[in-house]
Amino acid sequence: MSAGAITPSGAVAQQRGQAGPGLQPGWGVSPERQQAIAEVLGGQVPQAGRLAPGRLRAVTADLAARRDLWADLVVRDPDVRWYLPLYRSSSCDVWLLAWERGQDTDWHDHGGSSGSFAVAEGCLAEQYRAPGGRRVARRRVLGGEAVAFGPAHVHDVGHDGGGPATSIHAYSPPLMAMTYYTATRYGLIARETVAVDGPEGARGRGGPGTALAAASASAASLTPDALPDDGPSIDELLAEARSGLARLRPEAAFAALTDGAALVDIRPLEQRAAEGEVPGAIIIGRNVLEWRLDPRSEARIPALARSDTQIIVMCSEGYASTLAAATLRRIGLREATDLDGGFQAWRAAGLPTRPVQSPG
Ligand SMILES: [Fe+2]
Repeated sequence: MSAGAITPSGAVAQQRGQAGPGLQPGWGVSPERQQAIAEVLGGQVPQAGRLAPGRLRAVTADLAARRDLWADLVVRDPDVRWYLPLYRSSSCDVWLLAWERGQDTDWHDHGGSSGSFAVAEGCLAEQYRAPGGRRVARRRVLGGEAVAFGPAHVHDVGHDGGGPATSIHAYSPPLMAMTYYTATRYGLIARETVAVDGPEGARGRGGPGTALAAASASAASLTPDALPDDGPSIDELLAEARSGLARLRPEAAFAALTDGAALVDIRPLEQRAAEGEVPGAIIIGRNVLEWRLDPRSEARIPALARSDTQIIVMCSEGYASTLAAATLRRIGLREATDLDGGFQAWRAAGLPTRPVQSPG
């Protein structure tokens, strides 16, 4: 995920200064308009506290019905999903979104916020994780309808065909972070968490005096001068590890396997489930790797834990595998190395892969 701003339903806006029309949070809503919106919401939105999903549904439904407050602000962009923050308080934030055919959000949650969206024009389709299970439920949300959800809701919202769609979204507490998920045969697996960029950071949960504000200020003040100088950075550690390895590109690794080398996959199950596996690779969790491969370890795998075995460590992209291979060399596996580019380079080279095998 790039470092751009994130919309309430997941689009990545461009960096400030490069933003297209409407992609900059706050653009296009005049103080007068903000005041008019605040008056509409005045009776429904407390200055502080958490709004229940039912209350959020009333917020989005009421605003969706007030076309005079937002219709002239909408920008239709076939390439990038468009959004605009309409309103913020300490208790909730409200966004205007536009949807073109083919646009959707990908699977995500709302960082613990409850939420609602109302469709003002067109039609949206929502897939969501049914409570308490892996099952995925689906519903269409037509113009004039609104749905609401609690803090555990995980969904993927998209345009449902037909003409352009417009929707109003509200979240309480205001959105601060969202986690994206990959749909796998094991269900939805968390992939990454991204901070929601936008002015709500100054007025919502991250406002002055909060722990989040203190943590942000602390992180911002960290400079190289403030860091310990008696150890390498991760970049230096990686460079040092690589200087001692003859790393193998996928084709060379594939050839080495036919000569008796062992490909050791250290990726966690979640990653293998999402990405796939290499047939014949030996799966050893990173947390037990050294104990399985040290020739002196009681927990070793005898066929592999030999100083003359060529171990080729594989991770997803070829970073963690370098450090692991360097450690294996230190404990005596002098032929250990790693797969340059990891599983992703292997797959890109067209070498054999398969879906993850069921554990049992
Ligand atoms: Fe969402």
